[in-house]
Amino acid sequence: MKMVRRGSMVPMLFAVLLLALKGAAFVAAEGEETCSGIVPMKRRSEVVSIADFGGVGDGQTVNTAAFERAVSRIEQRNVPGGTLLYIPGGVWLTGAFNLTSHMTLFLAKGAVIKATQDTSNWPLIDPLPSYGRGRELPGGRYMSLIHGNKLKDVIITGENGTIDGQGEKWWNIWRQKTLLFTRPGLLELMHSTDIIISNVVFQNSPFWNIHPVYCSNVVVRNVTVLAPYDSPNTDGVDPDSSSNVCIEDCYMSTGDDLVAVKSGWDEYGVAYGRPSSGITVRRITGSTPFAGFAVGSETSGGVENVLAENLNIFKSAIGIHIKTNTGRGGFIKNITVSGVTLDNVRKGLRITGKAGDHPDDRYDPNARPVVGGLTIKNVRGTVIQQPGTIEGIKNSPFTQICLSNVKLRVTGPKQMPWVCNDVSGGALEVQPSPCTELTSTNGMSFCTDAL
Ligand SMILES: *[C@@H]1O[C@H](CO)[C@@H](O)[C@H](O)[C@H]1NC(C)=O
Ligand SMILES: *[C@@H]1O[C@H](CO)[C@@H](O)[C@H](O)[C@H]1NC(C)=O
Ligand SMILES: *[C@@H]1O[C@H](CO)[C@@H](O)[C@H](O)[C@H]1NC(C)=O
Ligand SMILES: *[C@@H]1O[C@H](CO)[C@@H](O)[C@H](O)[C@H]1NC(C)=O
Repeated sequence: MKMVRRGSMVPMLFAVLLLALKGAAFVAAEGEETCSGIVPMKRRSEVVSIADFGGVGDGQTVNTAAFERAVSRIEQRNVPGGTLLYIPGGVWLTGAFNLTSHMTLFLAKGAVIKATQDTSNWPLIDPLPSYGRGRELPGGRYMSLIHGNKLKDVIITGENGTIDGQGEKWWNIWRQKTLLFTRPGLLELMHSTDIIISNVVFQNSPFWNIHPVYCSNVVVRNVTVLAPYDSPNTDGVDPDSSSNVCIEDCYMSTGDDLVAVKSGWDEYGVAYGRPSSGITVRRITGSTPFAGFAVGSETSGGVENVLAENLNIFKSAIGIHIKTNTGRGGFIKNITVSGVTLDNVRKGLRITGKAGDHPDDRYDPNARPVVGGLTIKNVRGTVIQQPGTIEGIKNSPFTQICLSNVKLRVTGPKQMPWVCNDVSGGALEVQPSPCTELTSTNGMSFCTDAL
């Protein structure tokens, strides 16, 4: 059965073709690298509209069943080349729903997929094995508004359409401490591969916005993430126990870290043992009461081979934050952050072994994370209170920390100096002068070679 009348299909296909061409024509400024190549953009061989499944974009009708029908139809037909689910302009109220493989969710201009405010029967799903429980509370957790498990070849894109979590209600439940389970995110994909998320706006997530976990080959590009400055835990993008993830050209203004690379929590993350590896983050602009770019604090499966470059962070608490804790275990190694502009950021850099809470009291107090090979270079900052603090763990010092060409203008009444302990490494052309633990680069090829 044809789900779309020919009359509506032709202009739609045309729009999609145009978009595909525009996508192909995309070039960052000459010579700049992009995520292209990790996952190719695809034109689908079939287009269906949410309206053909009984969806009504009037901002009143709840469309959960329409989304479920559309997705299960796409799954059953399994058209070679995949299917594009077209969301026309309008406000499409819905509860949580799952995606399927080989599909594109396309939000046309003016399309808003909006979470229902009815939080009372939001579906619960199992905790992530690498967390052992919900991140906020024991037990399961509420399913993200848009969810996927064991998928391949999924694209979420459009013409700047919006995915709106209407998080205010959840934030208030959290503030009143009457939350029963961990809040839902906007988009979570588990055990999935070949994912593109582009040209859409994520706003007012109840919790983390975009959470790829146990995934590989994920591209997030040209995405806007917005949540109020005081909204709790509204992280922008959190690649978690995932590999080959590329996040670029995004604007984010949220209530928590803009990008935070994670890999599971204490004994559960150690047992699951899946690192985050091969993570690229570039050309991100934004503001947050926490950090612009973060690793951690959940890093128990390990985080390695991360490159973050050309970040532009303003009006934030911390520029770059690498955080773990005793009991986490795991490792953080081979992390390079290069080309950062900070403006009005309280602390330029924080590297710490004393961050974050524990899932329960069964964590191993001897599980000390191994942290080494962190290079922070080419950083400029204005209106900074404290250049940075670098605090390792007693009996497990952080090693090979390299700061190079880091120049921060510390101003204002609350100026503080660098603070370092339980750390070793080098520093070259750092202003204000770094702490003595890092002043020499003699014999530190790991640092001088990084230039
Ligand atoms: C959606 O996915 C979750 C987690 O994989 C699963 O528990 C749930 O049953 C799925 N829901 C539907 C309607 O398929
Ligand atoms: C970024 O997305 C916007 C709409 O969200 C679109 O107009 C623009 O062309 C996209 N830019 C690139 C380089 O893809
Ligand atoms: C996309 O929408 C966001 C949020 O409304 C807006 O800030 C941005 O300028 C829009 N981008 C384009 C290309 O229209
Ligand atoms: C370190 O990470 C970068 C990616 O940022 C990667 O290209 C490089 O091969 C890694 N080095 C080692 C020794 O694994």
